[in-house]
Amino acid sequence: MQANFRGKHLITLREWTKEEIDTLMDVSFDLKKKFALGIPTRYLQDQTIFLMFFEASTRTRNSMEAGITQLGGHAHFLDTSTMQISHGETPKDTAVILARFGHAIACRICAWDTGNKYIREMAKWSPVPVINLQCDLYHPLQGLADLMTIIEKFGDTKGVNVSIIWTFATSHKKPISVPLTQSLLFPRYGMNVTLAYPEGYHMPDWVYEEAKANAEKHGGSFRITHDQEEAYKNADVVIPKNWGNWVADPEGDTTSSNTQSEALLANKSWKCTLKLMELTSPNCVYMHALPADRNNEVEDEVIDGKWSVVYDEAENRLHTSKAVMALTMGGRNAYHG
Ligand code: CP
Repeated sequence: MQANFRGKHLITLREWTKEEIDTLMDVSFDLKKKFALGIPTRYLQDQTIFLMFFEASTRTRNSMEAGITQLGGHAHFLDTSTMQISHGETPKDTAVILARFGHAIACRICAWDTGNKYIREMAKWSPVPVINLQCDLYHPLQGLADLMTIIEKFGDTKGVNVSIIWTFATSHKKPISVPLTQSLLFPRYGMNVTLAYPEGYHMPDWVYEEAKANAEKHGGSFRITHDQEEAYKNADVVIPKNWGNWVADPEGDTTSSNTQSEALLANKSWKCTLKLMELTSPNCVYMHALPADRNNEVEDEVIDGKWSVVYDEAENRLHTSKAVMALTMGGRNAYHG
């Protein structure tokens, strides 16, 4: 096991070994216990992290801000429309300057075919860790909170049947980063993953290849279906959530508009309902990264019902974000367990 994470970027969990993610989980559970007991965890005293947001956020921004405060440091929230980025300042110059002022840089930028490249360009030049707060392809912090939640609910993740299911939504054209991250991560923990979506909402082909290879290596499975009922049958975890048809139609509706394309409207029946939940296994849990488009993505009776663990999942954003910051910003020089 590697014990020194100091300075490591978190852009995608693909670049973190299973052992490193296991350590992140251990630290997350430890921090959660200490938070519950009121035990101080000031591992990053007087450290500063810059949080750059090109898009809106509730959970990511606040878990990072509250998290760094609880670790003894401080966050600067940066609305990028108020930065010189809006006048064309480059990611290189932005990263080099912010790194001279503080100890880590984090960024959310979801624009298709731009976001991940932007974060990687900052990481290329930054001597301090760069943390991805969600891009067009990945949402590693959400993936970690989801993994922690499944471990909490099931203990052993091996053989857990998880269905990641596309749903209709009108709120905005959501990135593919959450289902993509889950599709790659969960097979690494031996889960049986079903990815369900209507025609036109596929992921890039390399995602399927890598998810299958991860499943083969770790004893899980990965399959695709276009039949939503099939995805609910005997599922232990369902994650019904909308994502945009970015791969099929990258020039279509943008993340900021709520225009509804024909392709979207044709799939209004893809919604998590009480009736569909009856097909799941007896102890099934309903998860969603939130925000949910209530009564489009999911019926209130489900998200507010006995299956739902969405608030536990959201809380775990705090503990996992703290683990990422404690390890990458402080590492063994700061974290004393
Ligand atoms: N799940 C998630 O990333 O939530 P926010 O968009 O509110 O940060």
